[in-house]
Amino acid sequence: MDKLIINGGKKLQGSVQISGAKNAAVAVIPAVILAEAPCVLENVPSISDVTIDLQILREMGADVRVLDKSTIRIDATHIRDAVVPYEMARCMRASYYFLGTLLTKFNHAKVYMPGGCDLGDRPIDQHLKCFKALGADHSIGRGIVEISAGKLIGTQIYFDKVTVGATINAMLASVKADGLTILENAAKEPHIVDLANFLNSIGADIMGAGTDVIKIRGVKRFTGANYAIIPDQIEAGTYMVAAAATKGDVTVNGIIPKHLEPITAKLRKIGAKLEERDESIRVMGADTYERTNLKTMPHPGFPTDMQPQFAALLTLAKGTSILTEGIFDNRFRYVDELRRMGADISVDGKVAVIEGVERLTGAPVKVADLRAGAALIIAGLSADGVTEIEDIQHIERGYEGMDVKLRSLGADIVKRRFTDGVRTAM
Ligand code: UD1
Repeated sequence: MDKLIINGGKKLQGSVQISGAKNAAVAVIPAVILAEAPCVLENVPSISDVTIDLQILREMGADVRVLDKSTIRIDATHIRDAVVPYEMARCMRASYYFLGTLLTKFNHAKVYMPGGCDLGDRPIDQHLKCFKALGADHSIGRGIVEISAGKLIGTQIYFDKVTVGATINAMLASVKADGLTILENAAKEPHIVDLANFLNSIGADIMGAGTDVIKIRGVKRFTGANYAIIPDQIEAGTYMVAAAATKGDVTVNGIIPKHLEPITAKLRKIGAKLEERDESIRVMGADTYERTNLKTMPHPGFPTDMQPQFAALLTLAKGTSILTEGIFDNRFRYVDELRRMGADISVDGKVAVIEGVERLTGAPVKVADLRAGAALIIAGLSADGVTEIEDIQHIERGYEGMDVKLRSLGADIVKRRFTDGVRTAM
């Protein structure tokens, strides 16, 4: 079992290169199945969710070659209509994107119910509603979702709620459908635009991604493409908040500042100083931070994937901050762990009330999900003493070499392997 050991209290300083976006990569990689020639993907993050996606493609018969750390060539032209296996589907939410791509490729798809972070109830009714509207039937049995269609036919779909996953699956399932598909009340996240750009680069006809109405005209054939994944706005935001929490001075490089606007606005509001350039943002921490209220919302609102990290920072702000989770039912599973470190937080349903404290102190803590893990790292970096973080496999799903990047910024953080209570350096 691996753990992260952080000796807190060091100010982060320097610059850090941001990797490709996890949530874009896990949508674009399954979409490569549709290409009728090999694709080269650049700026692919080295994270375990990507490793699993590539493994799924290999199991289906794709030829996957890693050209360098962030560049992958995929030839999926000879894949079989296989079941996406349980051991892989259960590890990540985005395994359900194989439903949309396999449906388009084979008019049939079989995928075990998706796993991913436990953030409360995560139904897939809107995905199934889209498939049905396009002419596909589904059944769920023995934990497998199976969908088949005689023919996919373009249609108008109104999402009952704004959902990233169902918007992506609807795009994947309609790119080859006969005629025009119109998605209304669609999600607008940057990774939705990135997937649309990738699909258009292989020959799809998608307009309006990034707005709440997306129009997809079905096409008959696809080509291959060379495509670079967008930078990860959540990884960038996490380092920005870590810089602020440690009162450091960090520049995040290789980013799209526009994607980070809700995060930069909040950091400025509580007292951090920021300098924005074309592809970088410098965050200069303050000695003290003001309280604030925050509610997570679909893009361009404050992202739910930054809520735990911001909560860790607000534990050290002056006064009472109120944090409302507007997307998921159960995204405060990190709160008990922050309390072990001295944070004063109470939770009532989807609302957390944070009373700022003078300092956090290091403690042994356990990660419940990906972004919760990032929050505990931020807390550990800003706390007095040693924090020992367990269950870091959740963090490795979505952050490329986080310990390495943080060390390059001056953090005292190491990953250690514990075997039967014995500790070995890695
Ligand atoms: C994606 C992101 C995740 C992020 C989330 C919200 C990926 C791989 N994951 O997750 O990091 O936190 O967007 O920005 O991109 N819902 C339904 N029915 C459905 C689908 C969703 O009720 O069929 C609900 C969910 O329970 C949730 C809300 O809609 O309350 C938003 O979910 P959604 O945007 O779909 O999140 P994911 O795609 O799972």
